[in-house]
Amino acid sequence: MTLRFNKLHPHFAAEAGPVDLRRVHDEEALEGIRTAMDEHAVLVFRDQAFSGGEQLDFAARLDGELHRKTGFSVLQKNRFGDEALSDVSNVEADGQVVEADSRRRLYSLGNRLWHTDASFQDPRGRYSMLAALVVPPVPADTEFADMRTAYDTLPEETKAGLEGLRVHHSIAHSRMTLGFEFSEEERDRLKGAIHPLVLTNPRTGRRALYLASHASRILDRPVPEGRLVLRELTEHATRPELVYRHSWRDGDFVIWDNRATMHRACPYEDTVHRREMRRVTTLDTGDPARVAQPA
Ligand code: OGA
Ligand code: MN
Repeated sequence: MTLRFNKLHPHFAAEAGPVDLRRVHDEEALEGIRTAMDEHAVLVFRDQAFSGGEQLDFAARLDGELHRKTGFSVLQKNRFGDEALSDVSNVEADGQVVEADSRRRLYSLGNRLWHTDASFQDPRGRYSMLAALVVPPVPADTEFADMRTAYDTLPEETKAGLEGLRVHHSIAHSRMTLGFEFSEEERDRLKGAIHPLVLTNPRTGRRALYLASHASRILDRPVPEGRLVLRELTEHATRPELVYRHSWRDGDFVIWDNRATMHRACPYEDTVHRREMRRVTTLDTGDPARVAQPA
């Protein structure tokens, strides 16, 4: 298999193909995709036709262990019957498009905040793989920000000041900044996790800022100061020149590295237009080439 890559942005993101990822089983081809992920951090594949099971299998082949402790699983059961297959859709369990005051909708609005997937867990998320099943007739895009260039372009003294800082991430925090209400029991189950503010990709040595709207505070700073630092770094990292905006087509399959990017959903009329997407996220454990299951 020879993949071609077309860059979509000066700093990161590429379209990859032609390939039917359902048929990619050999280790050399999978390693080629991992190497391309190390370089581009976001890969767009067109015209993929995964079933849910095939999407789960591909994710495990590419990158090993799957993330199942999603924030949403604390609120409601998954429509697809497997918590590893995240339902990133604006439809309820019965298939109807969400109403304005639906709890599912209000929770999902949090995706419009800049975030990484599963930063509120330990181990955290590594790759996310989002399949577009039903794309609405109006723009309903996703934006990605390049956290490696964001790190690289910080002043040296700022970089030095970030060394060793630890950040608490909680999905309850990002939702509560929007006024979403959790029960006490839900909040207890969403306590969060602690991760470094700067991550290094062990395969490439490249560093990246690890931020998300889930980041509630820097453990090593007074709370208001840490929150300001997180806010200023987020502003720096999401300047327009560091953002790639993806306009979805039916059959698109996008893989991103949560250690090297942030993302957010763009607004659209989500109570009117059906949009159905399905995501699998892997866990940041071990070397992908070694943890992935052989086919
Ligand atoms: C996700 C996500 C954004 C979108 O699937 O993790 O944040 O545009 N999606 O649906
Ligand atoms: Mn997300």
